[in-house]
Amino acid sequence: MDHFNYFDGSLCAENVPVVKIANDIGTPFYVYSSATIKRHYDVFSQAFKAIPTLICFAVKANSNLAVLNLLGSLGAGADTVSEGEIRRARAAGIAAEKIVFSGVGKSRDEIRYALGVGIAQFNVESREELDMINEEAEILGMQANIAVRVNPDVDAKTHDKISTGRKTDKFGVAWEDIIDVYEFTKTKKNLNVVGVTTHIGSQLTDIKPFKQAFERIKSLVINLRENGHDIRRLDLGGGLGIPYGRENPPSPEEYASMIVETIQDLNCQLVLEPGRLIVGNAGILVSKVIRVKDTKDRKFIVIDAAMNDLTRPSMYGSYHEIITVNQSEEDLEAVDIVGPICESSDVFGRDRQLSPVAVDDLVALRSAGAYGATMSSTYNSRPLIAEVIVKDNDYKIIRKRQSYAELLGQDIIPDWKE
Ligand code: LLP
Repeated sequence: MDHFNYFDGSLCAENVPVVKIANDIGTPFYVYSSATIKRHYDVFSQAFKAIPTLICFAVKANSNLAVLNLLGSLGAGADTVSEGEIRRARAAGIAAEKIVFSGVGKSRDEIRYALGVGIAQFNVESREELDMINEEAEILGMQANIAVRVNPDVDAKTHDKISTGRKTDKFGVAWEDIIDVYEFTKTKKNLNVVGVTTHIGSQLTDIKPFKQAFERIKSLVINLRENGHDIRRLDLGGGLGIPYGRENPPSPEEYASMIVETIQDLNCQLVLEPGRLIVGNAGILVSKVIRVKDTKDRKFIVIDAAMNDLTRPSMYGSYHEIITVNQSEEDLEAVDIVGPICESSDVFGRDRQLSPVAVDDLVALRSAGAYGATMSSTYNSRPLIAEVIVKDNDYKIIRKRQSYAELLGQDIIPDWKE
């Protein structure tokens, strides 16, 4: 359930008509519902109330400070993958002790920064990374909390580009090497092993690969404890899918009871890193029709948002439902909804059934709250777009639209001295 519904034929975000925001700030823009974010967070955290659980929101899904601040106020920590994300989480008021740091290529500078602020744990992806963290911790005279990311070698059966738990994926330490890598930590005096972590992919709509992976992790924890490792924390990553269209992913309750059943008797603290599930359906992208281009074969609706603003359709061929902001009684027609960018992949939807639209009408792309704004770019020299959050009858701008001065202002024409 989300909070984007029609009232009197006009699409609203909670109680704010989308057309009002468009009139005030222009298009395109992202709009998030604070009520949906809160609801998703509450449903997810309630589902895990049987065991001590820290929910570390995956910042890469939506890194706007206002969104992080809202989630932080609900009790969330943060799963981060760069110094920039750690800085964002902290700037939004999330305590360092609730921040985990993941990623296959943490740089030395990033490791130093994370140690300096005192994050909860490093989710480590290789022996080489353990070495580097140990060196940096030694320089700072401290212990680094670590969990090693296990690649459990299961196929998450999701999109190839967002699958991470197979042997051939670059992520984590291979199943057959994992015991050795944990043994290796015993030789490093500035590493403090606190747990085990895994993440097998994103947008999973089947519970079986999760179960398969988590059962493997359980057997690993037992084995590691027998080898004298004090495993107290289990970080099971993110990845639970959401409905974009016809998908029917497991509910948070189903997912939670599977996890609780599988790992409860290990008496570990649980860490989870959901991103998409919390914010995906809490945001829409609102855009204006620039041109209706009627050709012999197709009718193209060219809108003012493009693949640089919402990359997912062009990058993964992913589906986002597209609706008109004004409800209409007219017959639907088949159209292609496209952006203005000079690439044939700048297409949001082919052969979609939409009620007739004209220039300046508004459309909304649904389920755009996760991996929307965070993956945007300025390709074709298009300024980054505005972001807005609503709460009941009110809305606030949470990211200003980039100006042309800002867009151009980063470049420097060199003044070569002869
Ligand atoms: N934890 C780790 C270590 C991750 O790599 C990810 C996502 C998450 C948590 C959060 O996963 P979620 O709960 O959101 O599924 N750009 C792609 C998704 C890439 C996901 C990358 N890692 C998309 O737009 O579908």
